[in-house]
Amino acid sequence: MSDLDLAGKRVLIREDLNVPIKDGRITSEQRIQAALPTLQAALQANAAVMVLSHLGRPVEGSFSEADSLAPVAQRLGELLDREVRLVRDYLDGVEVAPGELVLLENCRMNAGEKSDDEALARRYAALCDVFVMDAFGTAHRAQASTHGVIHFAPVACGGPLLMAELDALGKALLEPERPLLAIVAGSKVSTKLELLSSLVSKVDQLIVGGGIANTFIAAVGHRVGKSLYEPDLVATAHKIMADAKARGADIPIPVDVVVASEFSASAIAHVRRVDEVGEDEMILDIGPETAARYGGMVSRAGSVVWNGPVGVFEFDQFGHGTESLAKSIAGSRAFSIAGGGDTLAAVDKYGVASGISYISTGGGAFLEFCEGKELPAVTALRARAA
Ligand code: 3PG
Repeated sequence: MSDLDLAGKRVLIREDLNVPIKDGRITSEQRIQAALPTLQAALQANAAVMVLSHLGRPVEGSFSEADSLAPVAQRLGELLDREVRLVRDYLDGVEVAPGELVLLENCRMNAGEKSDDEALARRYAALCDVFVMDAFGTAHRAQASTHGVIHFAPVACGGPLLMAELDALGKALLEPERPLLAIVAGSKVSTKLELLSSLVSKVDQLIVGGGIANTFIAAVGHRVGKSLYEPDLVATAHKIMADAKARGADIPIPVDVVVASEFSASAIAHVRRVDEVGEDEMILDIGPETAARYGGMVSRAGSVVWNGPVGVFEFDQFGHGTESLAKSIAGSRAFSIAGGGDTLAAVDKYGVASGISYISTGGGAFLEFCEGKELPAVTALRARAA
């Protein structure tokens, strides 16, 4: 985008302003903040700026107040220190002057958005002289506003946020300074199987956490009591460990864990050796010795990719492992990248954002990039540029 002369041009910018909203209030504005430099640059260039985004997963084809981008328009106005009009009907054209910025209502209310309908993509394209794809968080979706429009807009390019995300992820995963350490945590191996299988062929070390780690703990023969784990995937966990070992990569198993007899905010936490988990106990965090070992690995890493908290950090007594790891990452010399909703909540909770080299705005898009998949919006931009 920065290579183009945008003065006086009608510029349609696809951002991912899909932020969490509770009772009409935005609970995390990270994605709005991340989009600001792009929007400010377009305004400074004296473009007539139209911003397009989805919010949530509304029913297509009708307007619903609950899915309106109104809270986002208001916050965007505050942050840009200017009026930001929210335009509800825009498919037949938008009145916007150079130096003005308007937000177009939730594009997922438009029939044909999710199916990448060509007619809808052409209508988006007809709104503008230049289309800027800046929504990294939605770049894994082949939809009319992220993919189809790229084919039909008079000019289409990647925006600064999208480019920064691709640069950071490429630096961490495609040309990493080694050792490359990935931390993948979450409740289930099954939901991150592709990620684990892909990373195991790239990383030097892979730390697993949460319910995923429990399945690995079971795979090396320890009892996990009442812990969340997937017995059907124990063999898969075995194979991932064998694949890692075959290429000299390490998947450490915790030596100690934090357990409780129930999953609740008031549950009493006990530290156990990993081979001493009781039948009526569940693993809810890594133990202090494991946290120290993992911290040592982080301090020796050249690059760190972090997705997922290693314990139930929403409950303070099970948050020490995640806190310790977050602080190790923030204090390390490694090029570090963090992505995914829960990960960002942990980054916020422990106040470590400034120590992390790059914080991705992507959830699914971040995971798909890490899985080695092509993002359809990026593929379409490359094809246009070729
Ligand atoms: C996200 O929150 O990951 C993106 O905004 C994409 O949203 P989606 O999963 O509803 O397509």
